[in-house]
Amino acid sequence: MYILGIETSCDETAAAVVIDGKTIASNIVASQIDLHAQYGGVFPEMASRAHVEAISPVVEEALRDAGIGYEHVDAIAVTRGPGLVGSLLVGVNYAKGLALATGKPLLGINHLEGHVYSLWLTQPFREILFPVVVLIVSGGHSELLLMTGHGQYQRLGGTLDDAAGEAFDKVGRILGLPFPGGPNIERAASLGNARAYNFPRAKRDDSYDFSFSGLKTAVLRESTVPSSAAARRGERGTDRTPKLRTDISVNDVAASFQSALVEILVEKATRAAKAYQATEVLMAGGVSANSLLRQMMRSASELPVRYPPLNLCTDNAAMIAAAGYFRYNAGLRDDLSLDVAAMWPLTSASYDR
Ligand code: KG4
Ligand code: ZN
Repeated sequence: MYILGIETSCDETAAAVVIDGKTIASNIVASQIDLHAQYGGVFPEMASRAHVEAISPVVEEALRDAGIGYEHVDAIAVTRGPGLVGSLLVGVNYAKGLALATGKPLLGINHLEGHVYSLWLTQPFREILFPVVVLIVSGGHSELLLMTGHGQYQRLGGTLDDAAGEAFDKVGRILGLPFPGGPNIERAASLGNARAYNFPRAKRDDSYDFSFSGLKTAVLRESTVPSSAAARRGERGTDRTPKLRTDISVNDVAASFQSALVEILVEKATRAAKAYQATEVLMAGGVSANSLLRQMMRSASELPVRYPPLNLCTDNAAMIAAAGYFRYNAGLRDDLSLDVAAMWPLTSASYDR
């Protein structure tokens, strides 16, 4: 069964064809990183415009790469939310147009469920036995889930403030590193001493929630010079941007920050896996590309640890197509009234609908 996946929830215009929810026939990602890097983050208005320009060529390339035409597609899966409304609309409207023109079934997919199903695209595939604990860590989300079957999710906890990737991006900005912060902090950290600074490990309690804004503030305090009283009053000609101290080592701060953040993710995920008698710990999302996180999770967990290959950690449409396959198999379909859902928590209800 061929599923065409379309993803435009944030700053990547992506389309892919996946066979039987497991085999990638094509996977095209047009990244807007260069466009947004100059602003130090994703600029929503620019993102939707860039999606409009890229969507059609990206979808066509995905079909061409897979060596198929629309007639071979069994269903169209598109990210419906959560994400930036303007960006989501581009993908959803395009998918609706295709569904209308081709008569193929339409499936609205939760972006987080897409990240979960990126785990089903690892090759060679070993069957995943439920229940599993899934840690989704991306630029917009940090969620700890118990997955008891296809489409069956129980939320154990999540971030109370910044997402893990967002914390990487904000700290990257403080340290003057290019956007996105994650991979650049990882690079700087590999040259630094993780014990140089003792940053706070927030939410060291028995919940499964995370909090990263205190950690970010601690990095800000440690590594920048406070702005002058005149700047704080907003007087003309004064600059409010905090200046990086010249006597700190960016590499040491990056390494200490990274290890504080990773430590807390690992602690909560491994504790949840034990408490819920999971068979495995699964990780997905942009931050699961982080090699310290992968390594620390593997050494702390008594259970097998699984994460997607690097190109499937960050946003892509193959994961949306994979999630679409399982949704299709469960008999779920959407019609042309499908609307975007900027906020859409991942619960079993979104599957049972
Ligand atoms: O999953 P993703 O592409 O987008 C969202 O759905 O949000 O994740 C992007 C996030 C960014 O915040 C980026 O800084 C982070 O993933 N990221 C990393 C690494 N690679 C990407 N964070 C830490 N280490 C990395 N190697
Ligand atoms: Zn994502």
